[in-house]
Amino acid sequence: MTIAAHGIDMVDCKRLGEMIDRYGERFLNRVFTPVELEYCRGRKRRTEHLAGRFAAKEAVMKVLGTGLRKGVNWLDIEVVNEPSGRPRINLTGKGREIADEQELTEIIISISHITTHAIASAVASGKGP
Ligand SMILES: CC(C)(COP(=O)(O)OP(=O)(O)OC[C@H]1O[C@@H](n2cnc3c(N)ncnc32)[C@H](O)[C@@H]1OP(=O)(O)O)[C@@H](O)C(=O)NCCC(=O)NCCS
Repeated sequence: MTIAAHGIDMVDCKRLGEMIDRYGERFLNRVFTPVELEYCRGRKRRTEHLAGRFAAKEAVMKVLGTGLRKGVNWLDIEVVNEPSGRPRINLTGKGREIADEQELTEIIISISHITTHAIASAVASGKGP
């Protein structure tokens, strides 16, 4: 396996919480998939979990080398947790297309969060850009 790309991102939980308070459901539904929202709903540290997902999406955008350009949508990058709690990435739409173009075979992520910040790292295997 060849490491083709790596991306990392850090999110300020307080700032994300303020965005959620300000823009509410409209913001949540634009950025997070129903699966992600369901995972975070009702959890004691909901904003931290959401911030972890936000960081993961940005880390994956760095792996793809696109940011939000080239039509990649927040919802194209979904974080799902395995029964063990381990997170993995589901790519759809333009995100999937770009990963295929770059012949990325797999994207592995890791997420961590504390009260103030969330951080995520994404590593892609494949041929790379
Ligand atoms: C998995 C574990 C390492 C998470 O670490 P943590 O410091 O509690 O929390 P972090 O904020 O760093 O990480 C949380 C993220 O880890 C990820 N995670 C959870 N279980 C995981 C697993 N089995 N494998 C990989 N990643 C995992 C998730 O993405 C989670 O965030 P999310 O729920 O928002 O998706 C921890 O819960 C664990 O099981 N540790 C084992 C050792 C232990 O029990 N220590 C406690 C005594 S010191």
